[in-house]
Amino acid sequence: MLLEKVEQAISRLRGAGVASPEADAWHLAVFATGVSRGELQARAVRGDVMLTDDEAQVFDAGLSRRVAREPLWHITGRAPFLQFELVVGPGVFTPRPETELLTEQARTEAQLMPPRDGVVRVVDLCAGSGAIGLALAADIPHLDVLLVEKSPEAAAYLQTNRTAIAPVNTEILQGEVGQAVTHRAPGSVDVVVSNPPYLVEGADELDVETHGHDPHEALFASDGGLAVIREVVEVSAQLLRDGGVVFIEHGIDQSEAVQSLLTTQGFARAETIVDLVGRPRFTRAERARR
Ligand SMILES: C[S@@+](CC[C@H](N)C(=O)[O-])C[C@H]1O[C@@H](n2cnc3c(N)ncnc32)[C@H](O)[C@@H]1O
Repeated sequence: MLLEKVEQAISRLRGAGVASPEADAWHLAVFATGVSRGELQARAVRGDVMLTDDEAQVFDAGLSRRVAREPLWHITGRAPFLQFELVVGPGVFTPRPETELLTEQARTEAQLMPPRDGVVRVVDLCAGSGAIGLALAADIPHLDVLLVEKSPEAAAYLQTNRTAIAPVNTEILQGEVGQAVTHRAPGSVDVVVSNPPYLVEGADELDVETHGHDPHEALFASDGGLAVIREVVEVSAQLLRDGGVVFIEHGIDQSEAVQSLLTTQGFARAETIVDLVGRPRFTRAERARR
């Protein structure tokens, strides 16, 4: 019986220290059956659901992996991000809910920008699975989005997600942040978005799932966590047109440092935006007139 299995799973997951045992148990049931959580719960209320042998096997195998603290989204192979599902797994950073806030604000601003030659040009630096840039490109057809990602493993997931979510108005550059300037002319870009690595190794406390499964180069940066952010600011200053806008996600204790980097590189109106629980999570700034 499904309900019994889910109840047992919740208690095993709780015992293993999983942060959201109930949600995860239901996600595993959805993964095993291919039926939505709402439908599964409705069927359970009407008299419970029997799992087939195959479904029970998939559920049990997924549960064992989750109890061993493998991330849920590596088990299902897909992570939710806004209204999309991104293919994820070993070798790529799993997108986080806090990045949705940055994406929504960037989307609102990009939508309001007047296209030049019919196009609004966007660059996503440190694109990972493509969460930010692909969500923008899928929602706004007149965007032209360049996604820059250095890791070949992550770029393979990015390619898969691009094909599924926004194949027409996007382009991938597998390379370093600094290489973006060889693919877009200086002063030609309207919006830069970035969620770069910004943690300090040994200083920032991580949960088991993050520490064991997100790639090292996706998490950590040298120079107090600011090394890649500094590159992102410098490259954004070159790429953006006057009045163009940059959005950079960062650690909750890095807003002053990021604002100062932006101001030094000729940005104006640097403003840090807080998340739903009041933590400063990303900074927005405008390229001042040259
Ligand atoms: C925190 S993850 C963010 C991924 C994605 N933007 C998201 O929000 O889910 C940072 C990504 O930056 C990539 N990266 C790190 N240093 C880079 C660099 N110098 N140039 C380009 N990509 C880099 C990592 O491989 C990783 O995929």
